[in-house]
Amino acid sequence: MENLTSNLLNWYQKEKRILPWRDQNNVYYTWISEIMLQQTRVEAVKVYYKRFIEKIPNIKSLCEIEEDELLKLWEGLGYYTRARNLKKAAIIIEEKYGGKMPDTYEEVIKLPGIGSYTAGAILSIGYQKKYPAIDGNVKRIFTRLFEWEESLQDPQLQKKLTSKIENLIPEENPGDFNQALMDLGSMVCLSSTSPKCSICPLATHCKAYLHQTQTKYPKKTIKKPRRIEQKTIFIFAYKNWIAIQKRTEKGLLKNLYEFKNEEGKYTYEDVLEYLKYSKISYETVFQIGSAKHIFSHIEWHMTGYYILLKEKRKDFIWISKEELKEVYSIPSAFAYFKKFCLK
Ligand code: ADE
Repeated sequence: MENLTSNLLNWYQKEKRILPWRDQNNVYYTWISEIMLQQTRVEAVKVYYKRFIEKIPNIKSLCEIEEDELLKLWEGLGYYTRARNLKKAAIIIEEKYGGKMPDTYEEVIKLPGIGSYTAGAILSIGYQKKYPAIDGNVKRIFTRLFEWEESLQDPQLQKKLTSKIENLIPEENPGDFNQALMDLGSMVCLSSTSPKCSICPLATHCKAYLHQTQTKYPKKTIKKPRRIEQKTIFIFAYKNWIAIQKRTEKGLLKNLYEFKNEEGKYTYEDVLEYLKYSKISYETVFQIGSAKHIFSHIEWHMTGYYILLKEKRKDFIWISKEELKEVYSIPSAFAYFKKFCLK
């Protein structure tokens, strides 16, 4: 039987995806891309990554960027804590490590926003050190290869994988090894019911393939259902101005901007009642449809109203459509309603 590591690396040399952060020999690029890729798909990240690197080309400029500008660059990627942590970590790197990403696991893992997966990716890709980078893709590949019964969340699986990969990861190209697993996971060893075993470089090593049990791995875990929150979104408009407000400093989507909204699902009559009660004088109320947004633990089910006001009330920030597009970061949860404003 041929060697699993060399089969994987040979396949990677021929089939690897061309990605803007790849083979650049720049640990800052590795770091930024890995943070973006933590919760966002490769295709979506490409555009954001290029724009980000153009505007913020190195750690020093990341330390100096205004938070609002940083969040604007992040708009649409979601999970904004990632962007805030990037800046926090950059400041630590600047102050404590002379502006250079540290190169030991113990130092890297302490930086905000960096867990064991990202630390492994940074050290292996950026510094050619032999650390595994274990994410969901890697877990899927290995539970199939060895018919491991642990579910994805089982800490035992992480342990088994760490020691298995420590044995397989090569001295020479540990970063390529980890990236080969990422590519294999997203192009061949697919999570759907149809992994592409006929083109898999590891098929001869794979117990699940041998027994045709691929779709039984990884073993399923029962997920806790997300909490559903009903919300009503009010887009207050006056002439060409739109009203927004800043979210609070704590909790979900903190410090970002949003349209006025209230808990609960308001009917048209409820909205009229609400406007009367809040002493908001208006010309017209339009119902503008519904949208859903799914966060990791919560779902927002939103209903929206576009309301032409008779005056610019002082309790909001009034912005132009241009500013809505270019300046203020409105989280993608509100994308449907934002698009409506820009029509
Ligand atoms: N997913 C996460 N990190 C990645 C990388 N460096 N290359 C491809 N896919 C990835």
